[in-house]
Amino acid sequence: MSMNKHILVTGGAGYIGSHTIVQLVEYGYIPIIADDFRNSNKIVLSGLDDIIGHQIVTHEVDICDYSQLKPLFEKYHFDGIIHFAADKAVGESVNNPLKYYKNNIGGLVNVLELSVEFNVPNFVFSSSCTVYGEPIDIKEVDELTKLSKANSPYGNTKLIGEQILQDLHTSGSDIKIISLRYFNPIGAHPSGLIGEFPVGKPNNLLPFVTQTAIGKQKELTVFGNDYPTTDGTCVRDYIHVCDLADAHVKALDLLQKKERNFIDQVNIGTGKGTSVLEIITAFKKLTGEKLNWKFGPRRNGDVVEIYANVAKSESLLNWKCKYNYQDAILHAWQWEKHLAQHV
Ligand code: UD1
Repeated sequence: MSMNKHILVTGGAGYIGSHTIVQLVEYGYIPIIADDFRNSNKIVLSGLDDIIGHQIVTHEVDICDYSQLKPLFEKYHFDGIIHFAADKAVGESVNNPLKYYKNNIGGLVNVLELSVEFNVPNFVFSSSCTVYGEPIDIKEVDELTKLSKANSPYGNTKLIGEQILQDLHTSGSDIKIISLRYFNPIGAHPSGLIGEFPVGKPNNLLPFVTQTAIGKQKELTVFGNDYPTTDGTCVRDYIHVCDLADAHVKALDLLQKKERNFIDQVNIGTGKGTSVLEIITAFKKLTGEKLNWKFGPRRNGDVVEIYANVAKSESLLNWKCKYNYQDAILHAWQWEKHLAQHV
């Protein structure tokens, strides 16, 4: 069914994008990457070559620029689009909100305009559990949980992005749309050849852990130890990036089966909550490495505890996680060691 179908993957050289490329190829799709490498690294492309055995067609374009993007739609007859390209640093978005509205909203609107113009039938959007904000009285969120005010401009761009898609749907557009609400992606491809490539100091937990263990960062700070959780640290739903990648291909498969003018939203997580301390303990135990860390004050805007209800993703997408957070930690560590040898 997927044979020879061209899929445009915006941000395809990025962390989640690159892992999704591997999965698309495995399922017989032909992915075309559009990425301007502002927040990704070309080493990922050679890693992809090594895993897949051939080069993935890559166009170095800024998706925010309509005139750069349009020629791709003229050249290929896309069957679907997976739209990853966006900025994602929460703290930066607070200090530089216009960058986030311009890139995340402007980019999305550009890609959608061209999808409409060229009748691309299927669209998968990178959303985030951030659309639930700080859920009151519940930790396990399902898709019917009320969306709440985002706690950052970044979070707002995901909320607004989903709203734009909803409005396009309501207008009667043919496009079939699915928003995947990611929980916390971690890990790397089991080969250790591709993984997360944070530019500058990482904001997210696991890259900070692996960079501290390898000596790129001096010390990890755990943000807060007095939260109302079992060990006082925040709880998240950490999902292996390869499982998340697989969900995108399953989402495309689902869209193919639907009629025109379809829209839905699905959580992508494991359904289990894990604390920051549990991640640290597991990292030390699994790798045998030392880790220099200390407790520090709470980080502004952190949600106490949130994890996914996965019933809808499992039934709608016919998808299940293959990995747990321990696998993800080991794979992330392999990737960090690979980087140390090759970059
Ligand atoms: C954050 C965003 C989320 C976004 C995601 C993508 C918030 C509230 N959420 O998720 O919207 O989609 O990034 O990048 O900002 N931690 C430490 N020390 C560190 C780093 C993190 O203790 O050096 C802790 C955090 O306090 C948190 C957990 O680790 O409890 C996970 O943090 P992180 O990886 O940044 O993800 P989120 O904050 O869940």
